[in-house]
Amino acid sequence: MSDTPELSADSPRRNFLGQMAAGAMGLAALAVPGIVGLVSFFNPWRQKSEAGQSIRVTTLDALPADGSPRRFPVIADRGDAWNRLLQVPVGAVYVRRMGESKAEAIHVVCPHAGCYVEYDSKQGDFYCPCHAARFELDGQLKDPDSSPSPRPLDTLACEIKHGNEVWVAFVNYQTGTSEKKEA
Ligand code: FES
Repeated sequence: MSDTPELSADSPRRNFLGQMAAGAMGLAALAVPGIVGLVSFFNPWRQKSEAGQSIRVTTLDALPADGSPRRFPVIADRGDAWNRLLQVPVGAVYVRRMGESKAEAIHVVCPHAGCYVEYDSKQGDFYCPCHAARFELDGQLKDPDSSPSPRPLDTLACEIKHGNEVWVAFVNYQTGTSEKKEA
């Protein structure tokens, strides 16, 4: 005797269970990324890591004693709900030594349209190669009445930790506006 009739009698039930399992897996596949996204969105640590996270950029010893600026990359973890990149460049800053135990940091991005400003050691200032805006070493506009830049360069909070390390609270700001607003 063959058992084929038994199998065929059970097939609709098996198909039903298979469809239910596939449906449940499909729902799980949709729900998990959604939950991860919500948790990530409302996670204050994540938001802090992207705006104002204090990052070690250099040491006081690496800065000229005369207060001329040096440019440093800002290296940090970056991520969103789906990906997390560890220790990648997220921007750059100019840092100046302002004495035995103090430093100042300025964002390299020009507030006009986002080009990177350059340090002009001959003129002792910053200039933007895109539309020729010029800035004092403290970031102030050199020619506020005619500058293409709508505001000074963006200063960043800077502190010395462990006696010698320069840490910068790194934030990106919007360009093309006279107000300093986080990007
Ligand atoms: S982007 Fe710097 S002056 Fe235009």
